[in-house]
Amino acid sequence: MKGLILSGGAGTRLRPITHTSAKQLVPVANKPILFYGIDDMVEAGIRQIGIVVGDTKAEIMAAVGDGSRWGIEVTYIPQDAPLGLAHCVLIAQDFLGDDDFVMYLGDNMLQEGLKEIVERFEHEREGATAQICLHQVPDPQRFGVAALNAEGQVVRLVEKPVDPPSDLALVGVYLFDPTVHEAVRSIQPSARGELEITDAIQWLIDQGHTVLQQILTGWWIDTGKLTPLLEANRLILETLDQSIEGKVDGASSIEGRVVIQAGAEIVNSTVRGPAIVGEGTRIVDSYVGPFTAIANDCEVVHSEIEHSVVLEHSKVTDAGTRIVDSLIGKQVEVFRSHQRPRATRLMLGDHSQVDLG
Ligand code: TTP
Repeated sequence: MKGLILSGGAGTRLRPITHTSAKQLVPVANKPILFYGIDDMVEAGIRQIGIVVGDTKAEIMAAVGDGSRWGIEVTYIPQDAPLGLAHCVLIAQDFLGDDDFVMYLGDNMLQEGLKEIVERFEHEREGATAQICLHQVPDPQRFGVAALNAEGQVVRLVEKPVDPPSDLALVGVYLFDPTVHEAVRSIQPSARGELEITDAIQWLIDQGHTVLQQILTGWWIDTGKLTPLLEANRLILETLDQSIEGKVDGASSIEGRVVIQAGAEIVNSTVRGPAIVGEGTRIVDSYVGPFTAIANDCEVVHSEIEHSVVLEHSKVTDAGTRIVDSLIGKQVEVFRSHQRPRATRLMLGDHSQVDLG
């Protein structure tokens, strides 16, 4: 069994972060989202992983390297443009060969990992050529949706249906045997110009192949937008144990499940967990509230921040009002200059969002 992780794409829903960085490398609890997927694959026993990369290829390659850190072999598969999930299978054919594989969307996170899902396809598939994972959602119109028959077999898949046949959304984990290669070669691009994986799976069904389904009950998050990304951060932070490797001075208080990574410094501040403060980051005269992840080499000075993710080398100084529900990119500065006239002065990248409260 091989692994195929899709880590290209446009990432339009996470602009402006994705103007300069790969969305799969945005950290959740100070670890890139993509690494959770790799960890899950490794835990499922997969040792050969292909990673589809697009414009952010260099950054992904720098972060993941050759895979030796995980004891795996990584092959990069460049995609010229985000032409769809099934297009990723098409261009990965040389890497995949005649092996079964699990395809994983690099911005998805699953509570239950991949081990059981992969084992089921390896040992209990009984002739099925593919397996999909489903999750009940309140708003199926936004997803690929599966229609099941009375026996629970997958009979139809529809992308973003106006009139959904069920509330079962397709999770970003798919298992295939090599029959899928014929499927991705046989389908045509959809109205949005992409080769849809739902069409490839529908092709398998229409050709009489069995597609297994598994309904996941643990949480599943497609982190490709701000709100779900903050939610993933919240859920992962809740699972961390307290660990204080950095320095905390006597005037500071650390409450609950807080991780202070090596070389971080907390001075005259309160950090209320669950929260994580990265290596080399300084928190001075500040409050860091629950569900906050501050990456390496940041500074939070005389400010309050809660339920937010801050990427590396950023500075928040004298913010005045508490910063909440925010995603702050790399090398960002948020500060109050006290210049007259008092005013808000902005230099924001394209597609930035500012809520002045
Ligand atoms: P999506 O989130 O569906 O697409 P996107 O990354 O283009 O994002 P947006 O809609 O915000 O513009 O993609 C799911 C995952 O698959 C994500 O990790 C990117 C990856 N992907 C590819 O690698 N190649 C592709 O052609 C597509 C469509 C997605």
